[in-house]
Amino acid sequence: MQENFSLKPYNTFGVEAKARYFTEINTIDELKEALIFSKARSLQLLFLGGGSNILLTKDFDGLAIRLNLKGISEESINENEVLVTAKAGENWHEFVMYCLQKNFGGLENLSLIPGNVGTSPMQNIGAYGTEIKDIFVSCKVLDLENLELTTFNLEQCRFGYRDSIFKQEGKGRYVILEVTFKLTKKDHSIKTEYGAIKSELENLGIKTPTIQDISKAVINIRQSKLPDPKEIGNAGSFFKNPTIPLIQFEDLKQKFENIQGYPNGDMVKVPAGWLIEQCGWKGKQIGNVASHKLQSLVIINATGNATGKEIFDFSTEIINSVKEKFGIELEREVNII
Ligand code: EPU
Repeated sequence: MQENFSLKPYNTFGVEAKARYFTEINTIDELKEALIFSKARSLQLLFLGGGSNILLTKDFDGLAIRLNLKGISEESINENEVLVTAKAGENWHEFVMYCLQKNFGGLENLSLIPGNVGTSPMQNIGAYGTEIKDIFVSCKVLDLENLELTTFNLEQCRFGYRDSIFKQEGKGRYVILEVTFKLTKKDHSIKTEYGAIKSELENLGIKTPTIQDISKAVINIRQSKLPDPKEIGNAGSFFKNPTIPLIQFEDLKQKFENIQGYPNGDMVKVPAGWLIEQCGWKGKQIGNVASHKLQSLVIINATGNATGKEIFDFSTEIINSVKEKFGIELEREVNII
């Protein structure tokens, strides 16, 4: 147990914030011990995975617990399917690469997403035509109300776009300890619908892609426009893509003929990056914070010296200007602490 501990290395924005107490746990027993410690002192809890989806806006007056549970196991179902279980502290991308080396298909479109396996169900991580709900089977969690272990299946997780029960009524109640995915061993379903994947495969001269080729294409696309958190502090997309009623979209289309939208029933999903760019934010810097020059949905710690509060205020300015120009209220995807 450490006191007054800097969380700077544990959040991908790289902002300074101190936790009153900090501990790293490697086993469920260690986790339970940490919980007893916090209960005895009535401390608030903050669980840290890869730190890739949080913005620390102030010091944390409680116990921050970094989940370092490691291990990957497999169980064959039949000739074509395998269940793969990874513990929460496994790095997401290394887990994807491990599966690709074994030629297990299903995770390739999710290559190079920062963060750990344990946080992937929280916001149903997704990219390039796949979300984890597509291959998710279950996750084992510790219920903080009674310290019992329980399992959530696909339906119980109530996955939505960047959403799950763990962000809604289960918020703060469950600690995800491991996640099980169902992957394919040979009859892989290759997902190339996402426009950028198609053109990247063409660039690479690949006509019949393998799952490894898809991963390569996704890595190339991400590296070409998303900043590497190891070099520039960021947490990926800062906002969700908003979904608006078709009527509102058609109205906007009259005024802004280039507006893009992906219809879904009587709603339309609009790319937040486009809205933000149209408000003049792309590449714009205020003090230590900027909107990334190649993807305006990503807010960066441009100088490395930004505070969480500065980043938060910058995001509020973006929300206000998008609201004023388009009448659309952007919602933050990143968890604000
Ligand atoms: N766009 C702009 N200007 C910008 C950025 C984007 O006009 O500055 C336009 C693009 O031209 C494109 C559209 O917006 O037509 C969508 O852009 P992109 O393909 O880059 O995807 P996105 O909707 O901005 C989402 C996810 C990403 C994920 C990509 C690929 C959300 C909030 N973000 O971004 O996820 O990698 O799709 O599937 O849904 C993350 O969550 O951290 C993340 C990076």
